[in-house]
Amino acid sequence: MQKPDLKEAQKRSKKKPKIITDFIIDENLINLGLSKKYFVKTYGCQMNEHDSEKIKAMLEKMNYQATSNMEEADVIVLNSCSIRENAHNKVFGMIGQLKKLKDKNEDLILVLCGCMAQEEIVVAKILEKYYWLDIVFGTHNINNFPNLLGQKIFAKKQQIEVFSKEGEIYEGLPIKRKFPHKAWVNIMLGCDKFCAYCIVPYTRGKQRSRKRKYILNEIKDLIANGCQEITLLGQNVNAYGKDLADNYYFADLLNDIGKLNMPRVRFMTNHPWDFNDEIIFAIQKNKNIMPHIHLPLQSGSDQVLQKMNRGYCQEEYIALYFKLKKAIPNICISTDIIVGFPTESEEDFQETLKVVNKCQFDYAFTFIYSKRVGTPAAKLEDKIPLAEKEKRLQKLNKYISSYALESNQRFKSKEVKVLVDGFSEKNKQVLTGYSEHMKRVNFYGAEELIGRIVLVKITDVKTWSLFGVLSDEWC
Ligand code: 5AD
Ligand code: SF4
Repeated sequence: MQKPDLKEAQKRSKKKPKIITDFIIDENLINLGLSKKYFVKTYGCQMNEHDSEKIKAMLEKMNYQATSNMEEADVIVLNSCSIRENAHNKVFGMIGQLKKLKDKNEDLILVLCGCMAQEEIVVAKILEKYYWLDIVFGTHNINNFPNLLGQKIFAKKQQIEVFSKEGEIYEGLPIKRKFPHKAWVNIMLGCDKFCAYCIVPYTRGKQRSRKRKYILNEIKDLIANGCQEITLLGQNVNAYGKDLADNYYFADLLNDIGKLNMPRVRFMTNHPWDFNDEIIFAIQKNKNIMPHIHLPLQSGSDQVLQKMNRGYCQEEYIALYFKLKKAIPNICISTDIIVGFPTESEEDFQETLKVVNKCQFDYAFTFIYSKRVGTPAAKLEDKIPLAEKEKRLQKLNKYISSYALESNQRFKSKEVKVLVDGFSEKNKQVLTGYSEHMKRVNFYGAEELIGRIVLVKITDVKTWSLFGVLSDEWC
């Protein structure tokens, strides 16, 4: 048994991460899944979604088949998120529910992986209370999942393998992508920013940028397979390359990717700290880089930003915001904002509203601060009553949605290019996809348009989406 240790997870050394390229599934394990089914439930961010694509591919290499009905699965994987308490609660609730399935079928294999598995307190709780979980592995050893599954099946023993180390880089893991037309591409793993409220630097380890040759080859492969859009993924993509000793940074990567024949390139998420002018020039220069930037603000108050260890003040954020607006006309900028950070006073909250009113974001993800055990902010005394935090969130959300609606108006009666994802969940005759500016666009159309970029004339504007009519096909 290998359990996580928060103190170890916090350490950072100058050691270069190992790159491991020899992923293979042992031949004894290849047929373990014959006539068996798997179900993977993913919580949290795109990074987790992308990890789930790797987990699913490994299961399929072992001949397991996907099912959308959890009750008929032989292996159930919960890929968990630990960013806020409510994510924790959802996963623990699900583990509780799964006990009933396990009681009915003792051969059912229950797996917990992802960020929660990296937390010392979670693993302790599992050992004490949630003994019916069969396998627990963390974010640093996804590659070992097939072996852990084999060991569980052959040795009939609970497998807990979570490493706290800084992490390695695995190249060549199989990926079962959700869509053929759009794909996530990891450019870096981990985070060294240590924002005071955030658990990610502990659960995902040290910043490790992938070497450009692996990234570019992955993208070339996607192009050869007809992919229309990629999203470069990292906790802080602007810092790409700072941990590599080859003088090759995010702007260089964007310029190299820009030269490839990929119709749409997106990236997320950004940190104002590392957003330099070279990156802005690269976005301006490369027409396949989409005009949308997610630029987390977190707070508008200098006092709170400093306590959060964000590395910028209100004035610097606003200056960067308007530099981007000026450099890339019509750009869409979205953000993340936390209310109720322990030291946030009413005046601090008003500073956040001031920035929101100035920037008028296209959209924002807003959160109530959630205490994460082991982070520096968890040691701060939190005197703000929950009702007050909720009031602040509601007030903030009112502004955010009014600016979202207002920002969508600029597309009224305009033609926008939409990459079509599929039929809308709500109406099976309506197609849905995203415009270049990352606006969800719905319109009536036929199935054969799925996976293609089409031109849609916007006829109706809502707060969180646009509605239009197909004007012409566009490839
Ligand atoms: N409490 C609330 N929100 C958080 N985020 C990260 N950690 C916390 C926390 N402890 C938010 C930040 C980040 C987004 C992904 O989640 O806004 O940008
Ligand atoms: Fe968390 Fe800050 Fe790193 Fe983002 S940049 S993952 S908020 S520590």
